[in-house]
Amino acid sequence: MTHNSSPQITVLDAGGQYCHLIARKIRDLGVYADVCPSDTPASELRGRKGLIISGGPDSVYESDSSRIDPAILSQGGAVLGICYGQQLMAHELGGRVRKGTKGEYGLAVLEKTRPHALFADLNSGSQVWMNHRDQVETVPEGFEVLAKTNTCSVAAMAHRDRPLMAVQFHPEVVHTPQGHKILSNFVFGVCHCTPDWDPKDRIRPLEAEIRSVAGDRSVFFFVSGGVDSTVAYTLCLRALGADRVYGIYVDTGLMRDGETEYVRRLFAQLGATAFHIEAAEAEFLGALAGVCDPEQKRHIIGEQFVAVQERVLSTGQFLDGRWILGQGTIYPDTIESGGSARADVIKTHHNRVAGIQKLIDAGRIIEPLASFYKDEVREIGAELGIPGEFLHRHPFPGPGLAIRCLCSETVAHVTRRDPGWLLPIRSVGVKGDSRSYQSVLALDNVPDEDVATDLVNSMPDINRVVGRVLSEETDIPEMRSSRGTLTPERLNRLRRADAIVRRLSEEWGFDRHVWQFPVVLIPLGDGRDPDSIVLRPIHSVDGMTAQVVRMPNMLMWSIAGELSQIDGICAVFYDLTHKPPGTIEWE
Ligand code: XMP
Repeated sequence: MTHNSSPQITVLDAGGQYCHLIARKIRDLGVYADVCPSDTPASELRGRKGLIISGGPDSVYESDSSRIDPAILSQGGAVLGICYGQQLMAHELGGRVRKGTKGEYGLAVLEKTRPHALFADLNSGSQVWMNHRDQVETVPEGFEVLAKTNTCSVAAMAHRDRPLMAVQFHPEVVHTPQGHKILSNFVFGVCHCTPDWDPKDRIRPLEAEIRSVAGDRSVFFFVSGGVDSTVAYTLCLRALGADRVYGIYVDTGLMRDGETEYVRRLFAQLGATAFHIEAAEAEFLGALAGVCDPEQKRHIIGEQFVAVQERVLSTGQFLDGRWILGQGTIYPDTIESGGSARADVIKTHHNRVAGIQKLIDAGRIIEPLASFYKDEVREIGAELGIPGEFLHRHPFPGPGLAIRCLCSETVAHVTRRDPGWLLPIRSVGVKGDSRSYQSVLALDNVPDEDVATDLVNSMPDINRVVGRVLSEETDIPEMRSSRGTLTPERLNRLRRADAIVRRLSEEWGFDRHVWQFPVVLIPLGDGRDPDSIVLRPIHSVDGMTAQVVRMPNMLMWSIAGELSQIDGICAVFYDLTHKPPGTIEWE
């Protein structure tokens, strides 16, 4: 399901990381915008008042770089190119792009050289944010340079008579303070859009649309307890009434302490009357028994989700035409290039299993949030009266505690590696553009994060550094890895540890300073206690990069003190690795 009217502005995605941000900024101006692949045929974009070609990682001279349908530039419609979009516009129209040997990143001062509607009411000398390697050297025939910076002689250009214009910098990011004005000039001054998107008035039109799509049919949801499916579910509940909306929650046995109960209470509070918990713990744990490899664990969990969903779908009741499937799909999920690649795989698994695909093909699906971004979904949730404490919970990965419970098949000893100890434990990380699976270096205490960064940079065979929190008991060199898999006993140990960490960080108000706080169980201990705990509090905006957050020492010691009381826990470590080079999760 999408917004009622068709988009007035379309952003053509040339692979740029800020592509969604551009669409978002246009919506903030009160104008409905969407995102399409850069090579969308011009015939499919008819009716748009303006097009924006986004930035992208390519060089126009590479044979497989992102392209546009040339008709877009010749049929008279308004087009704004941004960064790579400017280079592509210049290249397509016969200008020359200089292949950069090194990049130019960061702040620059924009000097206007010629007036243009795009820069109306813009101060000269304003700050803009650059992020490029190639640049336009000669503008195409009929174009004029509108602005330059110290580093870039064509910081903006436009056609003399036609509504074609482009900027080398990024007006969509906060580091270009007048970027909002530039986009507004394009949308209203050049394209003459009329406001049709009220970021505040979303619920009534959404409910009306749900009623129109559903007709007299009822809706069933697989809910996860996550924000998106809960908000989508609540919208349908409000639009159709509780007796026409059915929620199914799969209990994988991989949830945190009290989670299933929490979800049950939340849905009761939202007014759900038809809510079913599908118990699948035995299936999940059975399939994961003895498996150590992180990727294999993830794969099995995906498959199990599919199996449970198929089982529920084939029970008869939902097969009949009186039911349609509701999903919490949000806008970035609908775009192939959006979101994190791994999250996409998981979501594709869940949202597109065979039984679900059949419903999609038959038009028996409703996705009320498909044109919204995450923060808009939270706002809608708040307007629906969903408790803020739920909407702002830390993200929790779909595979649950399974990827925070590390497994090992071997017994191996810790070895000395100055200035710490090399643990016989590997974890996933990200170095350059690829994932790594490498050893962990442990230090005897918890120094500054800078120390960790220097160590990872200087030791090619490690990707993570942890510090020992309290060290009254077994010394690190006496520890060893043990055989440990995903047993109920180890999962319970992790669950208890996670609950203690959550309780103490809430009591200290520390949970509000972090974006996410994984608690990881590693099979490292002594003869008596086989496992240890790693604390991983981080700050992030979108999970793509993350910074370690240090907690007050008193809190750190309190947490470690309580964790050491758990049967089977030998030591507590603090992960000091940013992302990159470490990932947020250990697997
Ligand atoms: P990494 O470990 O890649 O995690 O730095 C980035 C963010 O994604 C979450 N995550 C997942 N979420 N399914 C999910 O729904 C998954 O398989 C998955 N793996 C990682 C992770 O918790 C972090 O917020």
